[in-house]
Amino acid sequence: MGAYIALVNRQVPQGRNNYPHGNAFDSLLFLCYLIIIRAMSDSSCSPRPSLSQSFAGLSLQTPLVLLSGCVGFGDSYPHVEGFSYHDVGAVVLKGTTLEARMGNAPHRVYETASGMLNAIGLQNPGARHVVEHILPKLPHHETQFWANANGTSPEEYAEVARIFDNSPVTAIEINISCPNVKEGGVHFGNNPAMAARVVAAMRQATDKPLITKLSPNNADIAETARCCIEAGSDAFAVINTLVGMAVDVTQRKPVIANISGGLSGPAIKPVALWKLYQVRAVTKRHGIPIVGQGGIASAEDALGFAIVGADALGVGTGLFYDPLLCGKIIEGLSDYLQNNQMSAYHDLVGSLQTI
Ligand SMILES: Cc1cc2nc3c(=O)[nH]c(=O)nc-3n(C[C@H](O)[C@H](O)[C@H](O)COP(=O)(O)O)c2cc1C
Repeated sequence: MGAYIALVNRQVPQGRNNYPHGNAFDSLLFLCYLIIIRAMSDSSCSPRPSLSQSFAGLSLQTPLVLLSGCVGFGDSYPHVEGFSYHDVGAVVLKGTTLEARMGNAPHRVYETASGMLNAIGLQNPGARHVVEHILPKLPHHETQFWANANGTSPEEYAEVARIFDNSPVTAIEINISCPNVKEGGVHFGNNPAMAARVVAAMRQATDKPLITKLSPNNADIAETARCCIEAGSDAFAVINTLVGMAVDVTQRKPVIANISGGLSGPAIKPVALWKLYQVRAVTKRHGIPIVGQGGIASAEDALGFAIVGADALGVGTGLFYDPLLCGKIIEGLSDYLQNNQMSAYHDLVGSLQTI
């Protein structure tokens, strides 16, 4: 570029054309200059935006989080050609209880017009088995793994937390959408005080970051978030599935043996965005981060969650449709940040303009 500037600045004595095709030569040089500038701004010389995120004291290599129940115990996706854990900030393991569970009778899943219904029933081998036999085999150098704790009472949740406390998981997500067996089977997440009791019990049991997974099947999600922060929650996951059902009209029976199931996928995205907006209004002043989730199936979906206020982005059902979705979201996020002159994912989080 310096050479070009020197050339165009050279003095040409008036009335003399030293170079017979001077104008054409200058145009050619100018064209080269434009090509070089374009190439520099395209990629090689301007660094790609940073996607690393700090989250509840953890450092995520990207904001993407693979959601509980959608990737088993983290051992199957690395076998998919083209999939890389380096695209993923964290993987949430399948929901785990104190003792092993067989799960519900089939049918347990059903594809809907815009997502899926599931009633797996927390099939899992129990917390001790996960810690002793599954966690040691996971590639902790490629990404981090979070537990997903479940229980029938605050004491049982706390026991699960105690078991994972002594393990390589870097955080524990609390699935508060479990029935409270001692208090009439109402889901802990449907009642702010009950949700807070679970968080408080787990807080006593571990120093690892606690991520409370909030239910949308709840009259006041913001109040639940407030109570859980007081009880010691370090972060939130927003949202879990909505409750739904499907009917087999030939047999006049529910398709799902459990009758109802959790609805996930694109159908729940507008609800998830709204709940995220409401929870963010509470968490922002405390600096508490959120994993936004519910129906993310493209980079554009992910961008919407980021703009509303998702510090991290959960991808679940979308992986069943496209196991290579994470790489595509990463590309789309990077392109968007670069095209909007943002140097980091962090700059986009909560940038929603409402006026
Ligand atoms: C088959 C299936 C199993 C799930 N199992 C769990 C679970 O064990 N624990 C939990 O907290 N959430 C579970 N979820 C909910 C997801 O983690 C996620 O919050 C929800 O599906 C919304 O995100 P999505 O629309 O991207 O899937 C499950 C979802 C599906 C589809």
